[in-house]
Amino acid sequence: MAEDLTITKGDKETQYKSLIPQIKALIEGEPDLIANLANMAGALKEQFGWFWVGFYLVKGEQLVLGPFQGPVACTRINKGRGVCGTSWAKAETLIVPDVEKFPGHIACSSLSKSEIVVPLLKDGKVWGVLDVDSEHLNQFDETDQQFLEEIISTLA
Ligand code: SME
Repeated sequence: MAEDLTITKGDKETQYKSLIPQIKALIEGEPDLIANLANMAGALKEQFGWFWVGFYLVKGEQLVLGPFQGPVACTRINKGRGVCGTSWAKAETLIVPDVEKFPGHIACSSLSKSEIVVPLLKDGKVWGVLDVDSEHLNQFDETDQQFLEEIISTLA
């Protein structure tokens, strides 16, 4: 396994297409979940430079902060609360173009302007979420959804 990442320039799709095989190579053969989540967050942050990239994991009735890259963040989120807790409750990806317009958004940082949250699913059950925050409005779209869902499917 190579421990360095080749960073690609170009449009979003080009960047994801270069990154995905590298992420697969990074986690291939490594059974430790935390190690794999940590490298995924690191790879996404390095390629895209987003403000915050990380995971929250379901523990009992809450999401608890997992591996991430970026500024310190809230540690616990209740089901149905904020973008992350709503994605968990609905078991679906949420794209939020302007976090101020999302009722109940949890502002871990006032610098975060838009967000995408992708649930981690096993047998139809959510066991965590991938959360990505940007300092820019309207950062995320269906292209991000498609490729981020593909990336986390490699954890299955
Ligand atoms: N904004 C999220 C909380 C997590 S932080 O952005 C890292 C939410 O509303 O669930």
